[in-house]
Amino acid sequence: HHQWRGLIEEYRDLIDLLPDDLEAVTLREGGTPLVHSEWLSSLTGGQVWLKVEGDNPTGSFKDRGMTTAISLAKHEGAQAVVCASTGNTSASMAAYAAKAGLKPLVLVPEGKIAAGKMAQAVVHGAQIIMVRGNFDHCLEMAKGLAWNYPVALVNSVNPVRLQGQKTAAFEICDFLGDAPDYHLLPVGNAGNISAYWMGYEQYADLGRASKRPVMRGFQAEGASPLVTGEPFPDPETKATAIRIGNPASWKLAEAAALESGGRFAALSDAQILAAQVELARHDGVFVEPASATGVAGLLAELAAGESYAGATVAITVTGHGLKDTATALESFGDVVDTVVDADVDAAAAAAGLT
Ligand code: F0G
Repeated sequence: HHQWRGLIEEYRDLIDLLPDDLEAVTLREGGTPLVHSEWLSSLTGGQVWLKVEGDNPTGSFKDRGMTTAISLAKHEGAQAVVCASTGNTSASMAAYAAKAGLKPLVLVPEGKIAAGKMAQAVVHGAQIIMVRGNFDHCLEMAKGLAWNYPVALVNSVNPVRLQGQKTAAFEICDFLGDAPDYHLLPVGNAGNISAYWMGYEQYADLGRASKRPVMRGFQAEGASPLVTGEPFPDPETKATAIRIGNPASWKLAEAAALESGGRFAALSDAQILAAQVELARHDGVFVEPASATGVAGLLAELAAGESYAGATVAITVTGHGLKDTATALESFGDVVDTVVDADVDAAAAAAGLT
């Protein structure tokens, strides 16, 4: 019986930069659910779909670019791979490197990585180097290491990463039967929005979609260089995954917004964290803070009078809520505020049922 083979096998003829005799290193990533949001559809008067990327093998969309990057690194004879990360890329790289038998080396900003992501990198066997600096410093270091030493760079400045990530756009078009009217998503290092745009353009060029969506990218206020047009030397946000001040794919992302008639906007941490909880409570989808930024963006635009009536909207929710439970619980205070003896009546009374 057929199971999803992973995105390289499923979309091989549409992915560039992969040699014909490449053997895929896969954890059967991709093929993620497109979940209809009744909540957001009724708020907009359109059809809103969530591309739930937390359902990938390591819990984020990064697996899409990692199957291609690690497959190619192995094919080219690399022994070790390196990346800078705010957490998800390193978790994904560590898993795929383990599967491929490569040595993973990770550079992360000290104290700014969610515990779940750090646990993944550790357990998959990565060598983790904590940097007194932010993601942007880590990325410069990762480039320097790959330039000077025998380690292959698998950050999204490696173009084969975006080749894998663009398949999410294919999946959305394949499922909906066409491209959506709008695509909203969080933006950090700006690789993902660039990859989606590449995928949508390719499908339109091939005649597999009748149109391209308007791309709207959302950043955290404290790390919103694409909104202000200036790098942030000290990016800051509770959405640590997108705590990035000088995105590597800045130019590609700007082109995606421009060519699609879209734009970038910034949200406060409060808006992002509120959207995370609302999404979990209305739709049953638990995402990490950064991953709620697209939903927060839609809510902010509706509040500002923007209309999505009658439109089909895809929103990428990029990573799983279990990655960062500490931030998710911060606003709730003591989670267990009722403790009772092992007694039905006591539980009923505490629950207000009596
Ligand atoms: N959402 C999540 C959960 C992420 O981990 C990232 C990026 C983004 C959104 C932004 O995507 O960078 O392509 O614009 N995380 C990277 C990392 C930087 O190291 O895991 P982007």
